[in-house]
Amino acid sequence: MASIIHSPLKFRPLTKEKYTIAIDGYSACGKSTLARALARRLGYSYIDTGAMYRAVTLHLQREGIHPDDVERVRDAVPHIHIEFRPEDNHVLLNGDDVEDEIRGLAVSQMVSPVAALSDVRRAMVEQQRKMGRNGGVILDGRDIGTVVFPDADLKLFVVADQETRTDRRLNELIAAGRDASREDVAANLKERDYIDSHREDSPLRQAEDAILLDNTHLNLEELIERGVEMVEAIKKG
Ligand code: DC
Repeated sequence: MASIIHSPLKFRPLTKEKYTIAIDGYSACGKSTLARALARRLGYSYIDTGAMYRAVTLHLQREGIHPDDVERVRDAVPHIHIEFRPEDNHVLLNGDDVEDEIRGLAVSQMVSPVAALSDVRRAMVEQQRKMGRNGGVILDGRDIGTVVFPDADLKLFVVADQETRTDRRLNELIAAGRDASREDVAANLKERDYIDSHREDSPLRQAEDAILLDNTHLNLEELIERGVEMVEAIKKG
C-alpha cells in the first residue's frame, strides 16, 4: 500500500507579506496622503480609486455626456480605459495623462453624480480588483473595505472635521496654482459627502471591521506613524 507523504511545505504556517490595505473615508480627510506615504514605505503599489472616477467624469465631460443620460453613459463606459503610470502614478485616461485636469473644480463638481451610476461603478470595481489582485497594494476610496476588497487585511476609515478638510483642500488647490474660493471648496465637499453617502449603489460607510482614524489634529508625520503602527499590528497578527 502506498504511504501518504505529507509535504512539509503544506504545513508551514502561511506568513503573508503582500497585504491588501483598504483606506476609505470622506473627501479631503487625508486618505490619499496616508495611502501614498504608506505605499512608499512598504514598497506597495497605490491605487487612487477616486482618480479613476474623476477620469471617467472628465471623459464624459469631454464627450458632452451628462450623467443623467444613462444610455449614453452605458455606451461610453466600455471605451474608457484607466491606468496608473508606474513612474509617477499619474492617472492615464485612454493613454492620456489627465492627472492635473481631474483635480480642478469642474471635475470635482460632477464626479459624485457620475460615481453614483451603477454602470460606472461596475466597470471601475472590476478594474480595481484586477489591479489589486496580487496583493501588496493600498487602495483608497469610498467602498474599498465594503465592496471592492471586503476581505482586505487591513481596513482604515479616515475622518476629519469639516473645517480642517476645507482648509486642507483649499491649500492643495492654491499650491497647485488653481483659483478657488473657500466657500466653493466647502460647498463642494459637503455636496460630495452627501451624494457619496446617500447613493443606492455602494454608499460610503465605515466597514464593520474597519479601524477609525481621526485625522483632525494629526500632522503628516503623526498620520503616517499611525498607519505604520496599524500595519505592524496586522503583521504580528
Ligand atoms: O477621493 P476623491 O475625492 O478624489 O474621489 C472623487 C469622487 O469619486 C468622490 O466624491 C466619490 C467618488 N468615489 C467613489 O464613489 N468610490 C471610490 N472608491 C472612490 C471615489
